[in-house]
Amino acid sequence: MTELSAFPDDFLWGAATAAYQIEGSVTEDGRAPSIWDTFSHTPGRVAGGDTGDVACDHYRRWPEDLTLAGQLGLDAYRFSIAWPRVVPQADGRVNQAGLAFYDRLTDRLLEAGIRPFPTLYHWDLPQAQQDRGGWPERSTAERFGEYAAAVAERLGDRITDWATLNEPLCSAWIGHLDGTMAPGVTDLTAAVRASYHLHLGHGLAVQALRAAAPGARIGIVNNLSPVEPATDSEADHAAARRADGHTNRWWLDPIHGRGYPEDMVELYGVDLPVRDGDQELIAAPLDWLGVNYYFRQIVTDDPSGPAPYARQVPGPNGGHTAMDWEVHAPGLEQLLLRVTEEYGAQRLYVTENGSAYQDTVGANGEVHDPERTAYLEDHLAACARAVGRGAPLAGYFAWSLLDNFEWAYGYDKRFGLVHVDYATQRRTVKSSGRRYAELIARHRGGPGNGHGDAR
Ligand code: IFM
Repeated sequence: MTELSAFPDDFLWGAATAAYQIEGSVTEDGRAPSIWDTFSHTPGRVAGGDTGDVACDHYRRWPEDLTLAGQLGLDAYRFSIAWPRVVPQADGRVNQAGLAFYDRLTDRLLEAGIRPFPTLYHWDLPQAQQDRGGWPERSTAERFGEYAAAVAERLGDRITDWATLNEPLCSAWIGHLDGTMAPGVTDLTAAVRASYHLHLGHGLAVQALRAAAPGARIGIVNNLSPVEPATDSEADHAAARRADGHTNRWWLDPIHGRGYPEDMVELYGVDLPVRDGDQELIAAPLDWLGVNYYFRQIVTDDPSGPAPYARQVPGPNGGHTAMDWEVHAPGLEQLLLRVTEEYGAQRLYVTENGSAYQDTVGANGEVHDPERTAYLEDHLAACARAVGRGAPLAGYFAWSLLDNFEWAYGYDKRFGLVHVDYATQRRTVKSSGRRYAELIARHRGGPGNGHGDAR
């Protein structure tokens, strides 16, 4: 893959996970339930009745998992910190035993020369906060800021790279409008209010991190999609503009100091619960922007709703993943250039990108996953093209290090570079993982890279 030479010498090669998807041990060391414990234990919500009770048992097997990360040659590991471990109840008491887990993880990562990239919120709102109204309420954003301060006080002396929220779109739109993710609400007003308070919580977390860890480099992680009209009709073009507002502009404009897009405020018709000073908090300067990319959207006008009245239609490309998502690598290049040109991004990470396929363990014990390997190579090539055209891309995090609990889809959808046999918890590096390790080593040792084949 000659394109590797496009990446800067200090490009960060990473992989990502999230707490509820891998940790298990949901009652250990003072953890209390999150909205995902409640949701997954509600019959009919998750495929196969799967829950995160055990998941990859990472809470106990983390040393083995970090060894695997080292074997792949990762420079950085993106994980999330579970709010329900750190501040489990509504009383605001900080649970040091919960924080101790991330303390150990951080120290071991640093010892291994792998940079920790924690995300403070990857969807696991403490149920105690949900019982007080959850994200539609301002108090949740305030409690999130306090939780961020507690984490930064304990880990801010060693961790420099932080993300506040992962994919707030999913928390707000999928959790409160579609209702197919926790907390499973279907109410536009609740969804819009949740989106606002997620942004406010992000701003308060940035403030808390800056106060406790002055050298911190802070970003936010958004899942974005290029949007195209299904036909040339005016109605489909208008639908694409609305879908773009719903998926991209609603999440990018406010954090860039542009406020919420007026066309979307009008479309939703929900009063935003704005108070003096909020806009400045929400648009607090960031050090980087995280882009998660999985698919583009091709949409057609759908007046029967729900908002944004634009229905996705299947993409023309033959290749679809097990999630039924169209494989379209050029969309990643397009997004990276868009955030660079339209939003003036100064530092970007692809914080997630990956694919689910039906993997099987061969008779020889190996997992051969050529489709995932091709997906990885094609998307890295798209990143390289974006860098060549000026995108300030500083790193790439594959989703995911391990197969894990894929939310409402349960364990059936496997995104890992490492296969997990859930019956035995045996880990097997897939051929895509080995290919990733090879590419990393090649970039590191490649001509002009100024560093050898480390590790
Ligand atoms: O598994 C999820 C992750 O938690 C958030 N981004 C998308 C991934 C694949 O669906």
